[in-house]
Amino acid sequence: MTASLDIADLKARAKRRVPKMFFDYADSGSYTQSTYRANEEDFGRIKLRQRVLVDMANRSLKTTMVGHPVSMPVALAPTGLTGMQHADGEILAAQAAEEAGVPFTLSTMSICSIEDVAAHTKSPFWFQLYVMKDRDFVGSLIDRARAAGCSALVLTLDLQILGQRHNDIRNGLSTPPKFTPKHIWQMATRPFWCLDMLKTKRRTFGNIVGHAKNVSDLSSLSTWTAEQFDPQLSWKDVEWIRQRWGGKLILKGVLDVEDAEMAARTGADALIVSNHGGRQLDGAPSSISALPRIAEAVGDRIEVHMDGGIRSGQDVLKALALGARGTFIGRPFLYGLGAGGREGVKLALEIIRREMDTTLALCGRREISGATREIIAESPF
Ligand code: FNR
Repeated sequence: MTASLDIADLKARAKRRVPKMFFDYADSGSYTQSTYRANEEDFGRIKLRQRVLVDMANRSLKTTMVGHPVSMPVALAPTGLTGMQHADGEILAAQAAEEAGVPFTLSTMSICSIEDVAAHTKSPFWFQLYVMKDRDFVGSLIDRARAAGCSALVLTLDLQILGQRHNDIRNGLSTPPKFTPKHIWQMATRPFWCLDMLKTKRRTFGNIVGHAKNVSDLSSLSTWTAEQFDPQLSWKDVEWIRQRWGGKLILKGVLDVEDAEMAARTGADALIVSNHGGRQLDGAPSSISALPRIAEAVGDRIEVHMDGGIRSGQDVLKALALGARGTFIGRPFLYGLGAGGREGVKLALEIIRREMDTTLALCGRREISGATREIIAESPF
């Protein structure tokens, strides 16, 4: 893994190792992908302030996210089908995060189940919840997360209906999977991925199959998922979930100041400024451009985090400077996972950590709390 110097290197390696339909699943946004591109590009429009002859010895990136100590303000975002980037992907990513001292968030739509991840890690991880129409099942997921020792619940607000991703349709990515000669060819040309996959039994949605009512195999799963996302989800449900969970609650997918105001009123501990990595509303602003107004509007009533488009430690610092307390990364860790499993995720985190450390120093700061608006030379946001 030593040849990978940045996240772009890991992406290129993942592309060579992961079958096209799964690589594209990670690497796509919805419709024209304009928001997906803007998430990354808008970071380039922000310039950092270079400072010199400042004492830069004894630097630290340590801080907290929703009260949890973290070695740097970078958590792994929840991503569905992570176990398809690499066999047992969620377990490997959670172990890498544990070693790096940062939070791992397990998606409802993960391949490895809550219990699988808990059995293979020592530190508590976070669980991301999608609210399904079957509220009994939602309640049982919350109970399972609590029983597994999860230390925060991340409630996703921006996926009441699914934004279309053309690549997934073109690639024939569906539940249940329909294997065409094209798919078999894609897999045959990725032998290391296949060999790892053959060694594991974890190849379907582990939180759902065998747990939700009448979902026992891939075909019943496909009927269930098609009708389960709830278009009627409302702020009242947030209150129900907050009470049922009773622990740290993070609301994910806020992009508008008015919604941020609503989120602050729910009593949740944090919100994540996010457009789902450009996978939902195509044409929405980038997360980084939406962040400053939201941070200013809610002040210290609720912790503000952000995700979307972070590809370097410099990007993390820009997000902190524009008002985030912490950040989440999705694709950067998925690329690491696809490229090299657990070691690949560790490397992705290490790359970002080193970039943050050096960049913070070159901005003349030693502590992560020094990453304020003062380190910005120019920003259109
Ligand atoms: C996601 N995201 C996501 N979010 C969520 O709340 N639950 C989920 O199951 C998923 N699944 C998912 C799959 C894949 C492949 C991606 C890339 C993303 C969104 C994710 O949590 C996060 O918001 C974005 O990934 C952040 O953008 P970057 O870092 O990928 O640019």
